[in-house]
Amino acid sequence: MGAELSKEEIRHLIREAMAARENAYAPYSHYKVGAAILAQNGDVTRGCNVENASYSVTICGERNALFAAVAKGERSFRAIALTAAPEGKDPWAEGVPYPSPCGVCRQALSEFTDPKTFAVILARSEEDYRVKTLEELLPDCFSL
Ligand code: THU
Repeated sequence: MGAELSKEEIRHLIREAMAARENAYAPYSHYKVGAAILAQNGDVTRGCNVENASYSVTICGERNALFAAVAKGERSFRAIALTAAPEGKDPWAEGVPYPSPCGVCRQALSEFTDPKTFAVILARSEEDYRVKTLEELLPDCFSL
């Protein structure tokens, strides 16, 4: 799926997510996540996970990117790339699995996307990634 995205758009989003991951603040889990979300108008917004001593205050990289984009005025999105690995490891290192967004982030994304077409790019590197629709990751999602 995600056929409407060009290979170059996918690679660009992955590069942005990799750069976002550099700023992840993860002193508790030591697991660093980077995300980059593509708005319908072509605007790209980065996000990373930001942890807190009060653990539940932590925000995931995906929601951080989504909410930052919404705060800019974006309301509709085509795709998000994410990349993740433990601190000290690269996402493309041997044994590091493809990342996948948590359930809360999937639901948050459903608010501003068409789950049938919104592409979630699960990236280990610019060359090694999987693309799924949000609907595949969150079937029969809740909406009002
Ligand atoms: N995390 C994300 O950023 N995205 C996800 O989809 C799952 C988990 C973060 C939260 C926390 O900082 C760390 O990964 C370990 O759970």
